Amino acid sequence: MPNRFANLSAALCGSLLVITMSVSIANPPNDSAAIEHRVTALLAEMTLAEKIGQMNQVNADDRDLSDDLRQAIESGRVGSVLNQVDVDAVNELQRIAVQESRLGIPLLVGRDVIHGFKTVMPIPLGQAAAWNADIVREGARVAAREAATAGVNWTFAPMIDISRDPRWGRIAESLGEDPFLASKLAVAMVEGFQGENLAETGTIAATAKHFAGYGASESGRDYATVNIPENELRNVYFPPFKAAVDAGVVSLMAAFSDLDGVPATGNQFLFRTVLRDEWGFNGFVVSDWDSVRQLAIHGLTENDKDSVYEAVTAGVDMEMAGRSYVNNLETLVEEGRIDVAMIDAMVANILRAKFQLGLFDNPFTDPAALPPIASAHALETARQAALQSVVLLKNDRGVLPLSAEKLNSVAVIGPLADAPYEQLGTWIFDGDRELSITPMHAIHSLVGHDVDVRYLRAMDNSRSRASEGFDEAAEMARDSDAVLLFLGEESILSGEAHSRADINLPGDQAELVRRVREAGKPVVAVIQAGRPLTLTNIIDQVDAVLFAWHPGTMGGPAIADLLFGLESPSGKLPVTFPRMVGQIPIYYSQKKTGKPPSPDTVVLIDDIDAHAPQLSTGMTAYHLDAGYTPLFVFGHGLSYAEFRYQKIRTSAREIELGDTVTISAELTNTGDVAADEVAQLYIRDLVGNVTRPVKELKGFRRIRVEPGQTVSVEFELHTDDLAFYGRNMQLMTEPGEFHAWIGGSSETELRTEFRIIDSD
Ligand code: BGC
Repeated sequence: MPNRFANLSAALCGSLLVITMSVSIANPPNDSAAIEHRVTALLAEMTLAEKIGQMNQVNADDRDLSDDLRQAIESGRVGSVLNQVDVDAVNELQRIAVQESRLGIPLLVGRDVIHGFKTVMPIPLGQAAAWNADIVREGARVAAREAATAGVNWTFAPMIDISRDPRWGRIAESLGEDPFLASKLAVAMVEGFQGENLAETGTIAATAKHFAGYGASESGRDYATVNIPENELRNVYFPPFKAAVDAGVVSLMAAFSDLDGVPATGNQFLFRTVLRDEWGFNGFVVSDWDSVRQLAIHGLTENDKDSVYEAVTAGVDMEMAGRSYVNNLETLVEEGRIDVAMIDAMVANILRAKFQLGLFDNPFTDPAALPPIASAHALETARQAALQSVVLLKNDRGVLPLSAEKLNSVAVIGPLADAPYEQLGTWIFDGDRELSITPMHAIHSLVGHDVDVRYLRAMDNSRSRASEGFDEAAEMARDSDAVLLFLGEESILSGEAHSRADINLPGDQAELVRRVREAGKPVVAVIQAGRPLTLTNIIDQVDAVLFAWHPGTMGGPAIADLLFGLESPSGKLPVTFPRMVGQIPIYYSQKKTGKPPSPDTVVLIDDIDAHAPQLSTGMTAYHLDAGYTPLFVFGHGLSYAEFRYQKIRTSAREIELGDTVTISAELTNTGDVAADEVAQLYIRDLVGNVTRPVKELKGFRRIRVEPGQTVSVEFELHTDDLAFYGRNMQLMTEPGEFHAWIGGSSETELRTEFRIIDSD
């Protein structure tokens, strides 16, 4: 069989030992000129059918490889598979591709490794709450290494859709509401997955998804219509993608959703105008699952052939899990509707990634060449990530941390105290629940010798409406010194296609809180969930709330350490918590409006004077029944330490366009425990060519501060960091007045000012 890589392949396939040796020698430098040369040479040898084959990704989740799949690969009709994670099966697929296909082109092997492979980190939204690019990068690195043991060389992460609607189930997968925070963490994830050199063992290609605007699906209903004006797209939704592209992300995925009337999979503006022409992206674009065929279902096209025309013209290089490209693309070329030159450029994008990954030099996987699954390092990374992601929302009278010395007994109650699978969260195809350490187990091992730890599940699951267990729960609460209520959402209540219209605690959990509360003991709620919840109906009935998201494999030990004060909570909200669903979308970086609300203009529904004239209700932008503030603001998160910010300064009152200003403040730990604090910098551009948000995050830093210690927190801002897209969609920094704040949340009032001038 003619095969340009036959010798190499034969050597690689001889035995595992040979493969191992090849692994250690096959780390070629990622030289882009050499890669372009090889791409061009290979393209010149390909038939049209083989080119279209490269654009075809096939679902291969069956461990017994079907004859159809084998034949399709052998005949060069498959460029990528997804969802095969049996390493022997993957090696066999690669063997067929490199040894038995005419040109021996290896396969991209894709998998959703969203927040861990076997060892599961907190859900991405939880990771975002750590406000720590280092831990996020390390989590992705661990995930990449574990996934690589299965032969996976490409993941469909990070998901970086700006998400401002907690009803949307996929907010769990996102990095939250803010473009700045999401951009920094998106870059960290890309770096973690891809490493410095994709050809190295243990690195995998990343995918920034879903381009673009998917997070703004109407009413948070998954897959629903999206309408975002171009200015908002550019200022809010695009930045994390631009950052990922600048960081060298290998691929982007098209969103399922319709954007301003053109579904993303057929959207030339997104993939040609912005991604290729403006940003100079040279990776490849993959559709979402079967989303090419869905263009006809959207009603953009009449039939599958037209859908392929739209998707290819839009610049979607590879089709995921559909047959539309293989069935129609050749005809479209024959009919002259699509030029082969366009196909060549698209196939080159895919081949380039395969060369960058070093797959032509070594397509095979030897798990023994990689660190073991769930290594001590992996578990420690997961524990640190969980620890830093938990947010202390409320802590009345310092009820937390609990003291193992002072407590004789503690009641651990609730459906999520001992739920190894649920704590892993959504998108954990490969996550190993056997590795999970639950809070219940961790509390036992931490304080079980000194404290009588009682446990009652009380509800079958988080949605349960059966309250039979509540009497026993109330009794247990009465008989214990403190109550730890483990509430929230099971993992299945968030993630793709798992949107909710009501985001209260599901089932009868609020009633469980009420019953336990009646016992009169201190009540701490530990909430695990895939989204912000409206906690208004329970917040006053508990003394403290630790919001743990779905914290992953090591969630239990992290939560136990926080509850008993071995560590101080340090997570900060990456997304606003509304009081009630009707406030959504509610986010900190809103516009001011012409009628901004303030405490003295707001009259709430219960205070309306029936005899007052209609215009007496303040006439500002708020809800009569909810006011204008959320339950918890973006950036909020308490600590066992006490932090005081003061003496904010700018290095200059005026700076020239093109210069840098330093904003600094003093941060003191006035409490008596050492703790991490996440210092945040916000700015406001007072006057803009388009109106600017009332506050915008522009910097953050996680800092360890000892009791009594004062540290200087400094942020440098270049005037480019203050740029935004104006009316004509050009990126610009405008001279004028700016406010800057430093503090522990977006509510900070510690402010200074500076001015940008342009003397030229
Ligand atoms: C999701 C993608 C995911 C793909 C493959 C789709 O349904 O929208 O985010 O990567 O499936 O599993």
